Amino acid sequence: MAMVERKLCFLFSFFSFLLLSGFSSAGNVTYDRRSLIINGQRKLLMSASIHYPRSVPGMWPGLVATAKEGGIDVIETYVFWNGHELSPGNYYFDGRFDLVKFVKIVQEAGLYLILRIGPFVAAEWNFGGVPVWLHYVPGTVFRTDNEPWKIHMKNFTTLIVSMMKQEKMFASQGGPIILAQAKNEYGDIERVYGEGGKPYAMWAAQMAVSQDIGVPWIMCQQYDAPDPVINTCNSFYCDQFTPNSVNKPKIWTENWPGWFKTFGSRDPHRPPEDVAFAVARFFQKGGSVHNYYMYHGGTNFGRTAGGPFITTSYDYDAPIDEYGLARLPKWGHLKELHKAIKLCEHALLYGESTLVSLGPLQEANIYRDPSGACAAFIANMDEENDKILKFQNISYHVPAWSVSILPDCKNVAFNTAKVGSQTAIVKMVPDKDGANLQWDVFMEKAGIWGEADFVKDGFVDHINTTKDSTDYLWYTTSLYVDENEEFLSKGSRPILIVDSKGHALHAFVNGELQVTASGTGLDSTFKFESPIPLKAGKNEIALLSMTVGLQNAGPFYEWVGAGLTSVKIAGFNNGTLDLSSSRWIYKIGLEGEHLNIFKPNGLNNVKWVSTSKPPSNQPLTWYKAVLDAPSGNEPVGLDMIHMGKGQAWLNGEPIGRYWPRSSSIHDECPPKCNYRGKFMPNKCSRGCGEPTQRWYHVPRSWFRPSGNILVIFEEKGGEPTKISFSRRLAKGACGLVSEDYPSINVESWDNISKFNGEAKAALQLTCPENTVISSIRFASFGTPSGTCGSYQKGKCHDPNSISMVNKVCLNKKGCTIALSKQNFNTDLCPGMSKALAVEAACG
Ligand code: GAL
Repeated sequence: MAMVERKLCFLFSFFSFLLLSGFSSAGNVTYDRRSLIINGQRKLLMSASIHYPRSVPGMWPGLVATAKEGGIDVIETYVFWNGHELSPGNYYFDGRFDLVKFVKIVQEAGLYLILRIGPFVAAEWNFGGVPVWLHYVPGTVFRTDNEPWKIHMKNFTTLIVSMMKQEKMFASQGGPIILAQAKNEYGDIERVYGEGGKPYAMWAAQMAVSQDIGVPWIMCQQYDAPDPVINTCNSFYCDQFTPNSVNKPKIWTENWPGWFKTFGSRDPHRPPEDVAFAVARFFQKGGSVHNYYMYHGGTNFGRTAGGPFITTSYDYDAPIDEYGLARLPKWGHLKELHKAIKLCEHALLYGESTLVSLGPLQEANIYRDPSGACAAFIANMDEENDKILKFQNISYHVPAWSVSILPDCKNVAFNTAKVGSQTAIVKMVPDKDGANLQWDVFMEKAGIWGEADFVKDGFVDHINTTKDSTDYLWYTTSLYVDENEEFLSKGSRPILIVDSKGHALHAFVNGELQVTASGTGLDSTFKFESPIPLKAGKNEIALLSMTVGLQNAGPFYEWVGAGLTSVKIAGFNNGTLDLSSSRWIYKIGLEGEHLNIFKPNGLNNVKWVSTSKPPSNQPLTWYKAVLDAPSGNEPVGLDMIHMGKGQAWLNGEPIGRYWPRSSSIHDECPPKCNYRGKFMPNKCSRGCGEPTQRWYHVPRSWFRPSGNILVIFEEKGGEPTKISFSRRLAKGACGLVSEDYPSINVESWDNISKFNGEAKAALQLTCPENTVISSIRFASFGTPSGTCGSYQKGKCHDPNSISMVNKVCLNKKGCTIALSKQNFNTDLCPGMSKALAVEAACG
């Protein structure tokens, strides 16, 4: 490059750096029928949900940067009321709940922010984000025209708004917040609330608008949102959505690029081709603000998971994985999509759309703006058949269920079904140094420890009793067995018959665990019948009832209870004994919880027993070990596959609930995921018959170099010697790119004319930080098939493929290999479309 060019280039990069990395300061935000208008300009916005308490402050800058690199303009978050207002008027905004810090990090990255205040949020978050104490404020009914609810909702909303105003966070004040949300998906259930529904929705809108924040308010799934509030769409697809006024822009607040998990369920996977298809269709049909819910799902630390049964991991199969790594190819594919759509921005926002039918399930939308710029989207909605579609006299190959994006109405910059991005080979690699931990042990008593909390004939509701101060509630009773009972002489066992509203239970008889039972994510109630050993004389029945995250959505969800409803024992001489109205003695929580033995300053409140051989398969046991930080700097997961169920802490920080509960072997996981056709959460599930969650994210920032204290509470029994840490490592990269894949990666779009049909496609591979491409495990230019890890050569194969790829890629951090004549024998197998597949190891 000539000197002058270099200088110009430098100056250009410097100014773009200032523009791109500078503080975001949106200024005036309004809207019209087409889009948000920021400082007088219509804007097409890609937004990404990242919930601040689902990671740690140390991760926030990296997550936001990875989102920005992925082509994201806006970060969206809910505000988590119950994480902030711990008891009435007692607020917490530190650590993972430092909302202002989070917003500032977004601002510093030069991105905008959408603040969904709710304050009811659903979100698979405990109690939908509403503080449990509010349910016990007399006369309160959530989410309806109810005075105590409205007073608290308004107070909290006002508090958050004032906080943001004070920090000058709204765009109208020069800050990054361009939109705020009141309520969440109320329109879908408004009718269930009868007379209280509509007036409440209107009150909420009016209350929000009266906060005078200087930027628009949105309400998702609120079909009757009154002006000026914008109603928005949440769904897997929102192309058919229209706002309730022609003067409002089409906004998609929740596009779910995956789904959440419950303990015992499969692992949902939404293919990137379908996510991209949905997004492209939305913009094709006039959308202008689109948000991924979630872009980074993260972790439900401690007891923040909603429920019942939402896992501690909130990975969501999102473009950034739970641990903060870009999920490839999803992240990369969407990045390319964002680039392609952004190339169309002006034509889309300032042009009018013309619809051209290209077949029964095929259509194009052309946007031409007054400056003459033209962009087109060609969609093939056929779920089975690829099509060659003739558009403006040119033929285009459009795969089934895909959209091609033509930023100049002629050249395809991107097709949603052609995934050119690399796939990362990511593994949880056991950390050797972490094994062989020395455990100290403290045993909980099976039943009432210390003084009983209260005694009552019959049952209490679990949640009304614990008020969610703990997951655990002991229900204990005793019964006297006459020595003439026949089962004693026969050596048989009576049957314990239990009914519960949920969520889980461990039943102890005379101090021994007999049976464990639980509901599921679909139905939290459960019943069981199980033989139990009873002896002549007095027998202690101690039932440890548990919640596994409180209900987080649905009409009147706050009234859904938990705990025992019936306990009987069958098999006595006189038949069945109903204990349901007997005298039950109650104790809320565990002794270890009460004494805070998982916190650094509570550790010495009990006498731990040091042991070189910790008991295994022993219920109700606390384990404590001192350990060094796992080696390296990669993200860390605690491997709990050999444990039963319980909770874990590191240095007092709440890792969360663990429960390697497996999905049923009868669940179905399709051997091959077909991205074509409408997505549903179970369509492409993985992990059938495997534990829903084996690893539990422990943020790096929670570790000190040495002297870390790991505390585990195991409820039903496990193998503590097998607890270990794993590091999340990207071990390699794969890619399979066809000659007919468009690529705006190789060169910038401005240079597209240079391609002249030559080498449009290229395969790009990159290894993670501090590693290089250490070997090429597979390379074939020709007709390779298979998926990453199991590629195979086809009939057509250029024998020089491996040496070519070695030459370009070996010992490099990353490489780009064009599918060109210069690189490969493109004359092979004439008439056939060829592809390049490569699998590389990183080390
Ligand atoms: C939506 C809700 C979100 C989240 C999502 C599923 O209905 O608004 O908060 O719960 O479903 O992940």
